[in-house]
Amino acid sequence: MSKAGPLRAGVGAALAVLVALVPNAAEAQAAAGDAQFAEGRALFLGGATPPCAVCHTLKEAGATGNVGPVLDEVQPDEARVAAAVRGGIGAMPSFAGSLSDAQIRALARYVSKATGGAR
Ligand code: HEC
Repeated sequence: MSKAGPLRAGVGAALAVLVALVPNAAEAQAAAGDAQFAEGRALFLGGATPPCAVCHTLKEAGATGNVGPVLDEVQPDEARVAAAVRGGIGAMPSFAGSLSDAQIRALARYVSKATGGAR
């Protein structure tokens, strides 16, 4: 009894810590993801120069540009978006000189998530 008592209390305490920590970590991660998604969306619609929305259709953003491909059909993953934005592709200009790395990452996250291209 004198041994099982403290052991059980210890396990109980460890479980309580896990239960308390895991949802918080998940929430913190979701909040960070949401902030990046929102930043990427704002850049897509107007923060980037010229704005992605001028040339691309992306339903989630309400964008109807038709110079470039419909991103809902391309469904690019994050790496593909980042490569296009950094280097430019075809008639699309490079944004490497006007957007920070963090902004390009936010755009990549937003476009891949909003089009279902995130894997
Ligand atoms: C001036 C018009 C224009 C603007 C502005 C523009 N794009 Fe594009 N984009 C294009 C064109 C045209 C293509 C197709 C290029 C090709 O394949 O030759 C393209 C292609 C892409 C692709 C597909 C790349 C691939 O690998 O096939 C992605 C993703 C993309 N653009 C994202 C963006 C994002 C994000 C922004 C804003 C930062 C943006 N574009 C701004 C015209 C534009």
